[in-house]
Order: sequence, then C-alpha cells, then structure tokens
Amino acid sequence: MVKVNLKTLKIEAQKEIEKAENLKDLDIIFKKYLGKKGEITQTLRSLKNLPEKERKKRGKEANQLKKFLEEEIKKRQPALAKVSASKEEWIDITVPGKKPVLGHLHPLTLVKRKIEEIFQAMGFSIIEGPEVENEYYNFDALNIPKEHPARDFWDTLYLKNGLLLRTHTSPVQIRYIEKNNPPLRIIVPGRVFRHEATDASHDVQFYQVEGLMIGKDISAANFKAIIEEFFSRFFGKLVKIRLRPSFFPFTEPSFEVDMSCLTCAGKGCSACSRTGWVEIIGAGMVHPNVLKAGGINPKNWQGFAFGMGMDRLAMMKYKINDIRLFYSGDLRFLEQF
Ligand code: PHE
Repeated sequence: MVKVNLKTLKIEAQKEIEKAENLKDLDIIFKKYLGKKGEITQTLRSLKNLPEKERKKRGKEANQLKKFLEEEIKKRQPALAKVSASKEEWIDITVPGKKPVLGHLHPLTLVKRKIEEIFQAMGFSIIEGPEVENEYYNFDALNIPKEHPARDFWDTLYLKNGLLLRTHTSPVQIRYIEKNNPPLRIIVPGRVFRHEATDASHDVQFYQVEGLMIGKDISAANFKAIIEEFFSRFFGKLVKIRLRPSFFPFTEPSFEVDMSCLTCAGKGCSACSRTGWVEIIGAGMVHPNVLKAGGINPKNWQGFAFGMGMDRLAMMKYKINDIRLFYSGDLRFLEQF
C-alpha cells in the first residue's frame, strides 16, 4: 500500500472544502477523506502494518488530520446549506402542495347571473341592447321630447358623431317591443353611463337591469309581487321595501322602490347617504306613448317597467360601501369574491 503524505492530503482537502459550492460537494469531500473508504480512514486502518514507532507517530498525525477535516467541513456547512436551499434542485415530497390560483367571477357578474336566474325562473327572457345609443331610443321614443326639461334628469355623455352613451337600459324597451308582440316579459341587464360627479354611491358607469312585462291586465300589484319575490330570492330573506310616488316621463303612474339598507341595518351609512334606505328601483306603468312608439295599441295592452341598480344590489348583498370599488381593479377587493 502506498503511503500517502498527510501534509499534502491536508492542503488538498482544505482547498477542496473551500471550493465546495454546495452541500453535495461537501458530502463528496467527506466521503473522499473520511468515508468508509476515505483516504484518512484507510490510512488509519493501515497503521497496524507499521512498525510500532512509526505507527504511533503516523497514528497521531492521521487522527489530528481527521479531527481537523471534520471541523473544517462542519464549519463550511451553514453557508452551503443556504445555497442548497435556493439553488440546488431537490424534491421534498412531504411539503404540502401549492393550491393553483383559479380565476373567479367579478362580484357584478355573480350578481347579474343571480338576477338572471331568478327572473328566468319567473318566465322572463334576457335581452340585450347597444351601449352606444341614439337620441330617439334613449329619449324621444320614451316620451322625452327634445327641449323637454326631463332630459336633464339624465346627465348624458354625447359622442362626436351625434350618438350618445345610453343613460339607462330603458331604450331596450322600445327596441324590443318594436320587434315583438305582447304578451311579453323581459329583463335587460346592461351597462349605462352618466356624466356625473362620483361619490360612494354614484359612478359615471354602472349597471342596470331593466324589466318589462306587458299583458292584457298587468297591474302595479303584479309588479309589487314580482319585486318582493325577487328580493327574497336574491337576498335569501325577507327585505323591507317601500314604494314612493315618483315621476318618469315613460311611466304613469311612476314610483320609486327603496329597500332598507342592509349594510347598516337601516341605521344610516355612506352606502345609503345616511338615510337607512337605498333607492334601488325606478318603476311605473308603461306610458301609452311608449307603447305607441313601439307599435303596441295601448287600448289593448298594458304593463309595468322598472329599472334596477345592479351595483346597489351588489353593494347590499356583499355589504360594500363604495360603488367605485367595482371599477377600481383593486385585487385586494376583487379577491374576496
Ligand atoms: N330608466 C329609469 C332610470 O334610469 C328607471 C326606470 C325604468 C323607471 C323603467 C321607470 C321605468 O332612472
């Protein structure tokens, strides 16, 4: 057996330990010198073949070197442990899996689908109309002639080409009855636009759901029953509502439906302008002029129409106190749904 020079061995081993880039390298070095077949282990094992004097001397040297290298390796370990955690590839099958991030629906989409589901179950069809409208459908046909002061109810965003962004979903009433014969019941969910200052309960864009039901003898009582049914299904409990007389050019008589604010339980908060009530529906019996504009004879047919604020319904359902959050794109908000 060749006698290795322990001094050279020491220098070599030290260099290697210094150069080790990760724990695996260090492990290889350990095995090379101190493992079962390692050089130092072998040296120690071969001592028995040496004459006594030399055996003692070499034995002492080898044992010192063994201890020394063991310590050097130990010292190098903490630094390399960090490296291996970040750089080195290894699989710990005991680590719990990471949940894949799934997409989800926007709260307004959830609310829209729920509304559609409830009205569909009551026999209503879901209809859509254009967001860019003309004055005829948005105003004239709805019994709001040019120069009529009622146009000021809706602060309108006009486009350069003479068209406008619809201020409500009511134009779809006309578009639908022009092409379809009564009896009919539809809802029209969709985005509307207002040229308005924003606050916690107003935004320049929001969503409405228009409703229209026309038959031989449809009355305000039918309206009330349907809305109450809708609310209790939507919120899953009985909700207090109140009807107030109101005015819309396209309905006569007209009324406004308020619901008790669920955000503050009627106490008053920023979502309800501190009144405890939230105005959520404008409604009324369809004006004869509107039926006429759509080609329906008001002597034979009558019905109700309503326009409901979808954002406000969503705010009530999820207890959100600022409408602008829906359009903020803020993930801290959106990820809660
Ligand atoms: N279009 C009205 C609005 O936006 C709401 C409404 C719809 C009122 C239908 C009566 C009938 O304010």
